[in-house]
Amino acid sequence: MADSKRYYITTPIYYASGDLHIGHSYTTLAADAISRYKRLRGYDVFFLTGTDEHGLKIQRKAESLGKEPKEFVDEIVAKIKELWRTLEITYDGFIRTTDEQHVQTVQWVFQKLFDNQDIYKKNYESWYCVGCESFFTETQARAFPDMVCPDHGKPLERVQEESYFFRLSKYQDRLLQYIESHPDFIQPVSRRNEVVQFVKSGLEDLCISRTSFDWGIRVPFDPSSVVYVWIDALTNYISAMGYPHDRERFEKWWPADVHLIGKEILRFHAVIWPILLMALDLPLPKQVFAHGWLNLGGKKMSKTMGNVVDPIELTRKYGLDAVRYFVLREVPFGADGDYTEDALVARINSDLANDLGNLAYRTLTMVKKFSGGLVPAPGREEEADRAFRDKCVTLKGRVEKELDALHLSSALEEIMAVVGAANKYIDTASPWDLAKTNDSRLGTVLYGLCECLRIVSQLLRPFMVRTPGLIWSSLGMPESIDNADWDSAGTWGVCKEGQVTRRGKPLFPRIEDKEQEAEPVDRPAGQSPVTGSQEKAEGLEPSAASTPRPRASTDQPIGTINIEEFRKVDLRVATVLTCSRIKGADKLYRLEIDLGTEQTQIVAGIAVFYSPEELVGKQIVVVKNLEPAVIRGVKSNGMLLAAKSGNELTVLTVDRKIPNGTRIS
Ligand code: ME8
Ligand code: MG
Repeated sequence: MADSKRYYITTPIYYASGDLHIGHSYTTLAADAISRYKRLRGYDVFFLTGTDEHGLKIQRKAESLGKEPKEFVDEIVAKIKELWRTLEITYDGFIRTTDEQHVQTVQWVFQKLFDNQDIYKKNYESWYCVGCESFFTETQARAFPDMVCPDHGKPLERVQEESYFFRLSKYQDRLLQYIESHPDFIQPVSRRNEVVQFVKSGLEDLCISRTSFDWGIRVPFDPSSVVYVWIDALTNYISAMGYPHDRERFEKWWPADVHLIGKEILRFHAVIWPILLMALDLPLPKQVFAHGWLNLGGKKMSKTMGNVVDPIELTRKYGLDAVRYFVLREVPFGADGDYTEDALVARINSDLANDLGNLAYRTLTMVKKFSGGLVPAPGREEEADRAFRDKCVTLKGRVEKELDALHLSSALEEIMAVVGAANKYIDTASPWDLAKTNDSRLGTVLYGLCECLRIVSQLLRPFMVRTPGLIWSSLGMPESIDNADWDSAGTWGVCKEGQVTRRGKPLFPRIEDKEQEAEPVDRPAGQSPVTGSQEKAEGLEPSAASTPRPRASTDQPIGTINIEEFRKVDLRVATVLTCSRIKGADKLYRLEIDLGTEQTQIVAGIAVFYSPEELVGKQIVVVKNLEPAVIRGVKSNGMLLAAKSGNELTVLTVDRKIPNGTRIS
């Protein structure tokens, strides 16, 4: 009897045929968020992912590179694992279809189907798409314009072989009955109807072996044939759990709670896979959830088509939590969505910088200003305060309801709705006015905002990996968020009066664009621009956000600082290695610089004053510890120093050559 507090979730095993893009990351991030959520709720979770390494597609790709298939997939798998490390994917198992134990399971399964007379041999002629690794009948093939696969843009190939066939037709009625009596089996509902129609139209037996190439698992009783790659691949979900020999392990985890997949492989998972399990006399997975596609330029993002976005580059540019948030928030889980970098920047700026970052910054600024940085005791309470508290403590239930249905985007929407309500609460409760009149309601409002942030930080834990801990510790919580009990997100009063809060850097710097270019020098390159939200926080009044940012004047006296303050600025010598213009930004350069121990890049608004040749090779002075900023889509890790007078500008250099990285003091 399976333990009800255990949860087994899978992603597809991705083809090890090239680098993965954010389409693959989308499924894996979704599975990661669900896994984290279930763990927080006390489940014993097994999150399985892996790679699909056999088949004609991969054999050909390896050949084209002059590599042995195994050597080729080993390299790809290393990169895929590196990607999952970068995205902080918490998988519990990574299966490769070249794993010895998997190979044995597939052979065992094939033999068993054969012994049970679910497999027979016949001569076969058909059409095949190597991109899909899928057969098409004459009628299906003729329906594609020019007999070209619409998903992969490649002409179908003729297949003519002696093959083994799996009797799908025999199970057609059983499958239909199962789908109809298990409404949750295929989700979302629209996909389920699609499968029902397909099954009703009649199932043909499936060709499950190939003889014309050999990069695959050998048919145990006929070594001239290899097992069809989809039979090989689908079996991963049970071979990874010890089937058939490790009964204890298998019985603990099977059936899976959910197979997360993209909609293009639904038939394999909702028709072939359940029938294979029926033939093996095994229970079916509780759910197959087919999400939509991330499109780029109106087409499914795909390795074969080449219209892809590299997730590693994206996280480098925007930060992991921002990318994780965007991917899971932007598209309702199930639907298709278009990927654009503008949409990503818009999400970061509106949801993360303006709403969430701003809420944290404003709250902590007010706690600092009105309560000496200590969490205050609540005082007098009004109806609006009770209503706000109610919204916060009931949020957990709403988030759980959405997450239990795998509606990740809606769960984030619920959280952000409370963040939005909290910002409005600040505006209407007007703490700065309460402070003027010494109204004890000030404590109520500030305490409520701290509690709201605490709750939000806890509920964001399935989705984000750094931000929740940053918010949590900025509130002065005594213990690490890792030890926080999920259920406490549904209670009030966890922040204690007198806790020492700490307002750190803004959580999500606004990603600036055109504005940045307009004043390349007054706000030197690389400096995180002061955002509307920060001003709002400093000024506290809600209207301050829309007032124009004051321009820093170069000749205003600044006042003295002490040596400790000066030492906080990490000034270093660096050599300019390369210098290039940034597309669409006339005044900006991207400089790659050598800091001695590392090379990095900065953005500098000096393109009207210097040519690239003048800069390359120069030793310049940079502020190394300036918080990174993204300017015109390019990340800047520091800022160079320059002096400007009227229309003239000169970059600071050193008088004599000195090793890169030397500190300036
Ligand atoms: O199909 N949008 O592997 P695969 C959303 N090996 N999700 C996407 C996507 C996009 N543009 N592109 C890829 C295979 N995905 C088989 C699976 S499982 C037993 C064998 C995700 O490398 C989505 O989950 O083509 C899709 O189903 C999967 O990657 C396909 O990965
Ligand atoms: Mg694919």
